[in-house]
Amino acid sequence: MTRKVILDVDTGSDDAVAIMLAALHPAIDLLAVCSVKGNQSLKSTTENTKKVLDLVNSKTPLYQGCKEAFVREVCPWRIKFEDRATIVDEEGKEHFIHEDFDMLPKSDRKVEDMPASIFYVDYLKNAKEPVTIVAVGPLTNLAVALAIDPSITKNIEELVLMGGADDEANATSSAEFNFFNDPESAQKVFQSGIKKITLCPLDVTHKTMVTKDDCKRFEEIGTPAAKFAIDMCLKRIEVHTQRQPLTLPDACALHDPLCVAYLIDPSVLTDVRYLHLDISLDGLTDGATIIDHRYFQDNRNVYIAYDGDRKKFVDIMCDAFKLSK
Ligand code: RIB
Ligand code: CA
Repeated sequence: MTRKVILDVDTGSDDAVAIMLAALHPAIDLLAVCSVKGNQSLKSTTENTKKVLDLVNSKTPLYQGCKEAFVREVCPWRIKFEDRATIVDEEGKEHFIHEDFDMLPKSDRKVEDMPASIFYVDYLKNAKEPVTIVAVGPLTNLAVALAIDPSITKNIEELVLMGGADDEANATSSAEFNFFNDPESAQKVFQSGIKKITLCPLDVTHKTMVTKDDCKRFEEIGTPAAKFAIDMCLKRIEVHTQRQPLTLPDACALHDPLCVAYLIDPSVLTDVRYLHLDISLDGLTDGATIIDHRYFQDNRNVYIAYDGDRKKFVDIMCDAFKLSK
């Protein structure tokens, strides 16, 4: 059954692969894409998203979202995000894991006039059938929409998120980047009453990694999407190798497309637990996910994936990339 999906991105290298997967795979009806500030400024994430939608010849409308987090920027006492996942190559050139997509042609794609949060309210209030939202950046757009009209949750059949972490972290010693960048928005989303929230935290995305050997499969496919995925993965593999090694060598976490792959084939997530999750809003754990594992707790609000099928994940991406023209 085709899933009707709105994709919320802070394009970035892994967001780009999520966009291609959602736009190309027949199991997904990509209704709209919304950009948000996160990996880069809103201007950059929007431009990068335009270029990727052009690359896969997508007709899906793009809505530009929030330029800054709900609260964080007005809190000078909050921990600042200092670390940028960068490496220096043998020529001494610095590579950031989420650079502008200068390798892709400039896009003259029109961004919709309506801001993303208003689009969420307008579309979801009048939706004739329920919609799945996949959000793989900071949750500012959706949180603002929920602040405008909390009743929009009635037409959200499932919210699939990339964010958070239980035994992992990347933005600080305790927090993951998406939730750290806008903790209040994340907290608002988890408290919104959306009927089903499925979370792909770092705990699963650090296991369902993509390797250089997988990139050879993409190379055999040879389509524009497959080639761009290789470009994104090889850069990420370099950064992971130097700064965040995983359990396989020559591998990278490709966080965001895993959320889309789950909608295409839910069995790609192999250890999913129904638990309660809160977001810390202060101090050293600012933006960290506080997950309640106690057996007797009865206010569970999220399905959290702790493991996945790495091969199935890559197979799903290969199937989609073959359809790129
Ligand atoms: O922590 C990983 C997440 O932060 C991914 O969504 C990546 O694109 C960045 O947004
Ligand atoms: Ca992202």
